[in-house]
Amino acid sequence: MTRTVVRRLWRHAHLATLAGDDWGLVEDGALLAEDDRITWVGTDADLPAGLEVDNEHDLGGALLTPGLVDAHTHLVYAGDRTAEFDLRLQGASYEQIARAGGGIRHTVACTRAASDDDLFNGALARARALRDTGVTTLEVKSGYGLSLAHEARCLRVARRLGPATGLTVCTTALPAHALPPEFDGRPDDYIDAVVSWLPALHAEGLADAVDAFCDTIGFTPAQTRRVFDAARALGLPVKLHAEQLSDQGGAALAASYGALSADHLEWLSDDGIAAMKAAGTVAMLLPGAFYHLRETRLPPVAALRAAGVPVAVATDHNPGSSPALSLPLMMNMACTLFRLTPLEAWLGVTVHAAQALGLAERGRLQPGLRADLAAWSLDHPRELAARFGHDPCSAVVLGGIPCTP
Ligand code: NIG
Ligand code: FE
Repeated sequence: MTRTVVRRLWRHAHLATLAGDDWGLVEDGALLAEDDRITWVGTDADLPAGLEVDNEHDLGGALLTPGLVDAHTHLVYAGDRTAEFDLRLQGASYEQIARAGGGIRHTVACTRAASDDDLFNGALARARALRDTGVTTLEVKSGYGLSLAHEARCLRVARRLGPATGLTVCTTALPAHALPPEFDGRPDDYIDAVVSWLPALHAEGLADAVDAFCDTIGFTPAQTRRVFDAARALGLPVKLHAEQLSDQGGAALAASYGALSADHLEWLSDDGIAAMKAAGTVAMLLPGAFYHLRETRLPPVAALRAAGVPVAVATDHNPGSSPALSLPLMMNMACTLFRLTPLEAWLGVTVHAAQALGLAERGRLQPGLRADLAAWSLDHPRELAARFGHDPCSAVVLGGIPCTP
């Protein structure tokens, strides 16, 4: 039996292929996709003669790029934390609010009390909002359930987001996000519990990776190591919230497990950078959290660049430290606050973000890669990083299927 291949052609586009880790600009370009794969990229004038296609889209000179990859989000939760914003403006710190029982614990209480439908509908609206800003691949963490039943429930909700939106959704188990109240004063017992839950989450196919929060208000390096040992025993890749509020050596620890990424990194040391470089661990910068918490300690971008560590950028969308729903805004912040170049910001939300999810086949416009695309009302891709507070994404294409906001 022969299978019918659907051929879609986009013509008269200004392409930014990002091939060769440069802009890869092609004036009056064309791109052919067969089913969910890109099969041809070049100038419109060089299109093969006699090409037969099922759909043809004239982009009229619009910019066409790889779809964006948001590789660090906490999208599944209930409740509101904007009162904490007010408290922080009056002088309370993120850490003080967390130690007083607010912060992540507040969201855990609201999330546990919410129905599956409420959790799904909230996360769905956020996923659609991110898609409207050009995102085609999304990572979603658990971490507001903090019991086996509630972590599994949040991950099941996350698994439903892909079919509902057309986005590729990668899920990450983050039960070691905070200590739930029923384990007060017993963090090691909680880690025992987390270690015992991972096989069940894995057996149900709920997690593509395992994450933890290694910090003064999270878990110690020794506790993190136990979570990572359990992940490794299951063959699951790891990543880590590391060096956000203090230097715990978390990035080096994560790198010693071959972590996909170490995330936040404001307090990253030279040893951490060297370990990440040796392990191929991506540096995931989260300028939304830095901005919203009004942090002042900058991640060591120049040293990461000098060492050749791949740098990615994500929203870290969550209700507390980064209630952001625009990846292009994070690109702008990564440039203005962290001094990434616009090209570095682009590579950070495409190729390097895909690498941080272990996805080799996306992030560039190149034959053989997945046809995840974004079209923009822009002349040059750097405009996306330079401007903010606007919404120039006119369409995304998800595995070859067009979707207009
Ligand atoms: O990535 N730092 C830990 N986790 C989240 C914040 C979660 C929250 O405040 O609800 C982060 O910033
Ligand atoms: Fe986070």
